[in-house]
Amino acid sequence: MNSSVRKFIFHDLQAIEGYIDPPDALVFLAILRSQQSASLQGGLAEIGVYYGRSYFLLRKICGDREKIVAIDPFDIVKPDHSLTQYERFAAGGRQLGLSVDEERVIKSDSTLLRPADVIERAGLIRFFSIDGGHMLPHVEADSRLAAASLAEHGIIVFDDTFNPAWPEVTAGVTDFLREEAGRYSVFCLTKYKTYVCRRPFHEFYAQTIKTSPELKTFDHIETEFLGSTAIRLHNPMRRRIAYEVMVGLGMRAWSERAYR
Ligand SMILES: C[S@@+](CC[C@H](N)C(=O)[O-])C[C@H]1O[C@@H](n2cnc3c(N)ncnc32)[C@H](O)[C@@H]1O
Repeated sequence: MNSSVRKFIFHDLQAIEGYIDPPDALVFLAILRSQQSASLQGGLAEIGVYYGRSYFLLRKICGDREKIVAIDPFDIVKPDHSLTQYERFAAGGRQLGLSVDEERVIKSDSTLLRPADVIERAGLIRFFSIDGGHMLPHVEADSRLAAASLAEHGIIVFDDTFNPAWPEVTAGVTDFLREEAGRYSVFCLTKYKTYVCRRPFHEFYAQTIKTSPELKTFDHIETEFLGSTAIRLHNPMRRRIAYEVMVGLGMRAWSERAYR
């Protein structure tokens, strides 16, 4: 089953404009499969859908029956596109043969939402991706929303952490971790994302990252961060170059081999 998801990540998903690259897509796969194997249940949620690249990855991994809350104002207007942002998101789903669960789409600024808006649509959340507004008030509000709607065993993934283009994301995430006074810990860091869980589940998720066959291709480097040991997954430059060259030459089917 994972081989068809890998094919999807390296081939089909690239048709959707967006911002998740193969290393984080493989981390999503490892975490969601590990939750499934351990019968850790709950809904999924994403703030900042854009055209659905991460949403459709979640849908592909988890199937039609899982509840995914999708939050975005869907107000991006591109002069060169006749479709609205939402119409383009829905069209991407049709192109990939994946469903958009309209009942669980919330067309809103996430900072206006309450935890009940999420929980009443999907129950407590086991996987919450935050990739919406990138300024401090957004990250503050989004991390509070995610924490208050998270299952005990759930994880929060913050996008664009440590990206110098978005310094307030980093400030917001570190504020959140410090204000929560040790209740949450970082178990994984990638070039673009920071993965957080409640402290009692740190060992479970750290083991997931250490042992997942999907992630063995990366260097695993233990990194101390605000009182916890996170595993930083390093993706060597030579692999990134090999991948980009293959994609540039139209060899998408082969690009997956760079990540074995
Ligand atoms: C970087 S894109 C997200 C990329 C997406 N996660 C993907 O996988 O391709 C950021 C998205 O956040 C949305 N956004 C911006 N401010 C927001 C807010 N206050 N609440 C919810 N979504 C917001 C934008 O409309 C945009 O679609």
